[in-house]
Amino acid sequence: MDIGRNAMLDVVSLTKSYANSVTVGPLSFTVQQGEFFSLLGPSGCGKSTTLRCIAGFETPTSGQIFLGGERLDIKPAYSRELGLVFQSHALFPHLNVAGNVAFGLAIRKIHADEIRRRVEWALDLVGLSGLGNRMPSQISGGQQQRVALARSLVLKPPLLLLDEPLSSLDLKLRQQMRDELRALQRQLGQTTIFVTHDQTEALAMSDRIAVLSNGRIEQVGTPIEIYRRPASRFVAGFIGQCNILDGLIERREGSTARLRIGSGHFLMARLPDDATVKPGDSVWAVVRPEDVTIGGTGTSEGGSPFTGTVRDIEFLGEDTQVRIDVPGLPSLTAAFKTTREAASRIASPNVSVRIDVDDVFVLHR
Ligand SMILES: Nc1ncnc2c1ncn2[C@@H]1O[C@H](COP(=O)(O)OP(=O)(O)O)[C@@H](O)[C@H]1O
Ligand SMILES: [Mg+2]
Repeated sequence: MDIGRNAMLDVVSLTKSYANSVTVGPLSFTVQQGEFFSLLGPSGCGKSTTLRCIAGFETPTSGQIFLGGERLDIKPAYSRELGLVFQSHALFPHLNVAGNVAFGLAIRKIHADEIRRRVEWALDLVGLSGLGNRMPSQISGGQQQRVALARSLVLKPPLLLLDEPLSSLDLKLRQQMRDELRALQRQLGQTTIFVTHDQTEALAMSDRIAVLSNGRIEQVGTPIEIYRRPASRFVAGFIGQCNILDGLIERREGSTARLRIGSGHFLMARLPDDATVKPGDSVWAVVRPEDVTIGGTGTSEGGSPFTGTVRDIEFLGEDTQVRIDVPGLPSLTAAFKTTREAASRIASPNVSVRIDVDDVFVLHR
């Protein structure tokens, strides 16, 4: 299998301006061979523009792009031989499924037997064996998106670029396709850049994620790193839900800090080894809702206890989310698995709340 050969992508100080104002960049990032790398950010932050520069549909204003050590950005789009799948599948309506998948091979003047073999291989990969004779209008949206994927994979591109490929599908199908796409990418070792505004999708699928805001990279990291150790307030707020509390470092003893928060409250936080905060620093304390524990005994050492009142309960099926008013603090959001035992803890509106020292992440303000 020749997929992924020498596929490392290097984007170096890429910028793109429209009408004299810089829209994207400067951006620098590297995608390793075989990696599933996501560009994640809100609508308008420059994800598609970045991808289009890599694909060759846009000319960067400055910077360079390398693939396998060779300059990519100086080649015309058609000779970059990358795989592309966009939100709208845009199949050729007058060609059947097999014809659509074969298209890229046919214009490369590959022998008919070889084309047939590779089209079968690609359709089998995406679970569409036997549907080669259907017309695009005779298959579902999910199947059309699979054809679009097969049409790219059949060319065995060194790099696959996906721009919100699942966002036109309904939720159930989107989740299924997410798993299928990821499994396929792993099976083939296909180096992939995946653009999405959906953090759940990015967290579930990626080896690494670059979080973008206003055309700049806020953080590059694994899903866990981005979730547990957000590099900025933007990342903390954009990825998952969280409580962000204004705090002041009062004391630091080795790896633990005592923060003053709200009026008259304290919060203990474990600091990473490389933390530079010192007493007197203004910080944000980031706490995920699932780490705000309601009731329960066994207050762990170093945890911070609060007492409050349950303001509202949102039942989300598997999970329950609760807003808790603690006098002198902004309201806290807590989330837990909906079990009978957990539900009993919010039976009375007056609750005790605990935040463990290891579950507080401190960011410079
Ligand atoms: N051809 C263009 N001309 C002018 N502005 C553009 C053009 N394409 C994109 N933009 C602007 O660049 C910004 C980033 O767009 P885009 O890369 O499509 O964002 P995203 O894919 O993250 O939603 C937006 O503000 C958008 O309006
Ligand atoms: Mg876009």
